Amino acid sequence: MDIFANPDLLAVRQLLSESSLPISDISARHLQHFFGCGSGPGLEGVIGLELFDEVALLRSLAVVSSCRNAGLGSGLVAHAERHARAQGIRNIYLLTTTAEDFFLRRGYARLEKAQAPTAIKSTKEFSGICPVSSAFMVKHLEFIS
Ligand SMILES: CC(C)(COP(=O)(O)OP(=O)(O)OC[C@H]1O[C@@H](n2cnc3c(N)ncnc32)[C@H](O)[C@@H]1OP(=O)(O)O)[C@@H](O)C(=O)NCCC(=O)NCCS
Repeated sequence: MDIFANPDLLAVRQLLSESSLPISDISARHLQHFFGCGSGPGLEGVIGLELFDEVALLRSLAVVSSCRNAGLGSGLVAHAERHARAQGIRNIYLLTTTAEDFFLRRGYARLEKAQAPTAIKSTKEFSGICPVSSAFMVKHLEFIS
């Protein structure tokens, strides 16, 4: 799987929209820590990170419906985790309404939102965009290889 940084903004927004994920706060400045994948000209998958000192928010994970269940989502998560760790990130947080079990099987654990670090609470995804019913999850990166 070919994973690359800084995917095209329009393609990212289209894929996230098709997957019913938020796009209202995504701008070109976010894409430095976004990754895409695809074997041809089209974007087949995307994942994003927002980095803050030792913590990060993982967001915007989506795979084109025709390419699902082939390992792309797992590959993107693993790539984002390696990137985060290389940047000195110790804990990755995320919010999800659709894929809690997917992340549980990849080492994430559910956490009370009140336990979120201030930097994570300050993100638009945490403070407004994601529904209150979202599951809040964390993974400690010292446990990944
Ligand atoms: C979640 C998503 C990214 C997974 O991508 P993928 O490329 O199909 O993932 P993989 O092929 O690596 O893994 C597939 C596995 O995850 C499971 N899975 C896929 N989507 C899931 C979901 N929403 N919830 C729980 N498990 C899910 C599959 O059943 C499969 O399980 P298995 O390994 O036991 O067979 C993809 O389904 C998607 O884009 N969904 C819509 C957007 C979304 O919900 N994103 C998450 C936002 S936090």
